[in-house]
Amino acid sequence: MNANLLFFMLLCFLQTCGSYFSTSSQKNSKFYSDPVEAVKDIHNGATILVGGFGLCGIPENLINSLLKTGVKGITAVSNNAGVDNFGLGLLLQTKQIKRMISSYVGENAEFERQYLSGELEVELTPQVREFGGRHYVMEKAITGDFALIKAWKADKAGNIVFRKTARNFNQPMCKAAKTTIVEVEEVVEVGTFAAEDIHIPSIYVHRVVQGASYEKRIEKRTVRKSQEEKPKPKKESDIVRERIIRRAALEFEDGMYANLGIGIPMLASNFIKPDITVHLQSENGILGLGPYPTEDAVDADLINAGKETVTVLPGAAYFSSDDSFAMIRGGHINLTMLGAMQVSKHGDLANWMIPGKMVKGMGGAMDLVASAGTKVVVTMEHSAKGGKHKILDKCSLPLTGKQCVDRIITEKAVFDVDKTKGLTLVEIWEGLTPEDIKGCTGTDFEVSPNLKPMQQI
Ligand SMILES: *[C@@H]1O[C@H](CO)[C@@H](O)[C@H](O)[C@H]1NC(C)=O
Repeated sequence: MNANLLFFMLLCFLQTCGSYFSTSSQKNSKFYSDPVEAVKDIHNGATILVGGFGLCGIPENLINSLLKTGVKGITAVSNNAGVDNFGLGLLLQTKQIKRMISSYVGENAEFERQYLSGELEVELTPQVREFGGRHYVMEKAITGDFALIKAWKADKAGNIVFRKTARNFNQPMCKAAKTTIVEVEEVVEVGTFAAEDIHIPSIYVHRVVQGASYEKRIEKRTVRKSQEEKPKPKKESDIVRERIIRRAALEFEDGMYANLGIGIPMLASNFIKPDITVHLQSENGILGLGPYPTEDAVDADLINAGKETVTVLPGAAYFSSDDSFAMIRGGHINLTMLGAMQVSKHGDLANWMIPGKMVKGMGGAMDLVASAGTKVVVTMEHSAKGGKHKILDKCSLPLTGKQCVDRIITEKAVFDVDKTKGLTLVEIWEGLTPEDIKGCTGTDFEVSPNLKPMQQI
């Protein structure tokens, strides 16, 4: 062996040692065994970003640690506010949260109570911006003093990966706080997951703590019925719903990317014709949504935007919420189908709050309906309880979107919406006349010369 080669080898050895020394003594991520230690410097009045979508991918151990430190006056930024007795809901109960910045809070009764009584400040962020000359609701960038993150695994260098839809808002929030505290299920050796599979590099990860236990509570456990189960007798309301579902299913076309709202739109996907392929997007981070799982396949880390347990089809992809909204805002979704409380004749849509009474939040709906190139179909019952009109000259409730609806499907009729000319009745349920529809609709409409009986799949 010549001297040069020996020197070269020694150099390599020293460089290797050098990099080991620097990762062990100066690395960015610090590991903790006690989650309370990892959060004890979160001060009163801090702004904290909390990852998770519903109860999926929430930092359970870090939230519980804040109950122990008793920090007060928190501004919490989180897509949802947990439920009454789990997740951030626990910190609402103890009144440790002064202000919530969220986009959908529909599942938390204590939140609604504190907000409506003025005890809690709320900023609902519609996840919307202004791009390319189109008018969207403006939103300011959100940053935090601390981010509380739930991930699947960290390697000993502090790189992290998320599991399935538990990635959601965890990934962007890692990058938006001064101090990012990540709880994980497992700490693994460097190299256990490949460098190209890392979701968040260690530079964003300041503290890591392995959670002691995970409840991974499921908000809406939904399973596929087994074939043998007898269908239940149908109520009148089921018949109405099924009629809307069977019409809505005809909106799907081969090759479409579609985002479906909770309820009727999601159920319409059960009726997609077997000879066409529709790619379903769920805004919490799935492309290629499959049917509800069988009981043994239920996975708390795999939910849809309605917080229901789901499955994915072969070829599906998981991604973070910011990627999901890049798809939506970029106009890549061909069809969005959603429910409504009110629709105006020019296609204004209201579906997120009733002032003084009910606050759910707009979630991703404002983005979905504002996106150019996305067909917006509303599925809803023709009238509200007590016969109040839902299709109106002008919406009285706060709007989700202006002049955004392209089609309305109810159990009685299908209308096409023109943003300037108004409504045209294009299909009608058998046995009803246009006069009948006029009697139960809060605005006037044209009748198509090609008026058809309402189609069903
Ligand atoms: C879906 O939208 C894309 C544009 O984003 C378009 O190229 C494609 O043809 C559309 N597909 C269907 C089935 O509508």
